[in-house]
Amino acid sequence: MPQPFPIDPQGERGFTVEAAAMKFGPGMLAELGLDARSLGLRRVAVFTEPNVAETPPFRSAVDSLRREGADVVLFDGCRVEPTSASFLEAAAFARDGAFDGFVSIGGGSVIDTAKAANLYATHPADFLAYVNKPLGEGRPVPGPVRPHIACPTTCGTGSETTGVAIFDHVERRVKTGISSRHLRPTLAVVDPTTTYSLPAGVVASTGFDVLTHAIESHTARPFRTRPRPDGPAARPPYQGANPWSDIGSLEAIRLGGRYLERAVADPGDHEARDALMFAATLAGLAFGNAGVHIPHAMSYSVAGMNHAFRAAGYESAPPMVPHGLSVVLNAPAAFRFTGPAAPDAHRRAAAALGADPGGTGPEEAGAALAHRLIALMRATGLPNGLSALGYGAADIPALAAGAAAQQRLLSIAPCPVGEEELRALYADAMVYW
Ligand SMILES: NC(=O)c1ccc[n+]([C@@H]2O[C@H](COP(=O)([O-])OP(=O)(O)OC[C@H]3O[C@@H](n4cnc5c(N)ncnc54)[C@H](O)[C@@H]3O)[C@@H](O)[C@H]2O)c1
Ligand SMILES: [Fe+2]
Repeated sequence: MPQPFPIDPQGERGFTVEAAAMKFGPGMLAELGLDARSLGLRRVAVFTEPNVAETPPFRSAVDSLRREGADVVLFDGCRVEPTSASFLEAAAFARDGAFDGFVSIGGGSVIDTAKAANLYATHPADFLAYVNKPLGEGRPVPGPVRPHIACPTTCGTGSETTGVAIFDHVERRVKTGISSRHLRPTLAVVDPTTTYSLPAGVVASTGFDVLTHAIESHTARPFRTRPRPDGPAARPPYQGANPWSDIGSLEAIRLGGRYLERAVADPGDHEARDALMFAATLAGLAFGNAGVHIPHAMSYSVAGMNHAFRAAGYESAPPMVPHGLSVVLNAPAAFRFTGPAAPDAHRRAAAALGADPGGTGPEEAGAALAHRLIALMRATGLPNGLSALGYGAADIPALAAGAAAQQRLLSIAPCPVGEEELRALYADAMVYW
């Protein structure tokens, strides 16, 4: 049975909160021009992609910018699930445009592209310089970047609140990212009416991204199990579960458990889509503070090794495994494994998700959580485990080697996890029903 990390009396005692400025509500994009003006933005690059550019909330946002006198230059070439090549293309646009600041209107793909473009336009460097180790050099971002207003249009990543930009390094067959507090957007404008045009398959995939952010944050190792840092600057951005992150993560799990099925089933159910969008933002705040662990660590090789899958709702995107799917297909296996190391946290998460949290045995809480997640996956039309993406036993060593490299995330799990355990988890994630 996995053993939890113990609380060290000489270890970490506190946690920090660096939340982004944010506003939330239907119709908030109509105020975007005033927000941009208050940040002193005159010449503004607006990042988006074709599916979003056709929607009424996008038009309302751009009209608002123009009404307030902004000089708007559109970049609608953001790639869904960005790559190193697509980041570089966006960075060249940003560098050549001499912009005062950036507005991103789209899902995590668009917001992350704007973060990277802003970074390389402000602090030019070789592409791999700022990319997380071991793929990149992991060089710290030298200072602030230009103002960036992030406007999410999926009920998903929470990227509008985080300092992370994720991309697919196609040649190396792995997803990785750039991570710095300087990349956190200056302001997040979260307008849930943007989600009314999302296809059901995208709501399902991004909705499970939300749920896994929240459940992984809540079941992460408690912050007091970390060693005490040498000083405030050495405290990592992913601090482990703490009383502040628990407020957002538990409420996001509760909202997801109550509204996800409705939000997927009916685009006209605005109550459900608004609630899921709020859950996405809460979960983004929680995981940006506490961290995510095994299901996300496992997702990077699931997505990085497969460029042939076509997910429902993503017909206009190139073949790939959407982020939320690549995460949640590992989640039941991961929570069965981590449950015994943190039974109370898993029991609270299961109850918030609407499960019968089971008996009191340490094995039961993780199993109850996995059981409820699987029921939600079936009810929303998700593939039945990794085998439905085309993976089999022969892929497990490579999948586990990729996940084992994600130490930044694995170290936030509630118990130690090595490559051998990861192989067992991938085997367990192949088929669920
Ligand atoms: N930066 C972070 O903190 C963070 C966290 C998690 C995931 N990510 C990354 O974010 C990316 C995924 O982002 P996502 O899940 O938000 O989705 P996405 O941006 O990839 O978009 C998903 C699909 O929905 C469509 N779409 C988006 N908004 C729409 C709208 N309003 N109406 C109609 N169609 C719309 C897109 O065209 C696309 O086909 C991945 O690259 C993932 O790795 C980033
Ligand atoms: Fe995620």
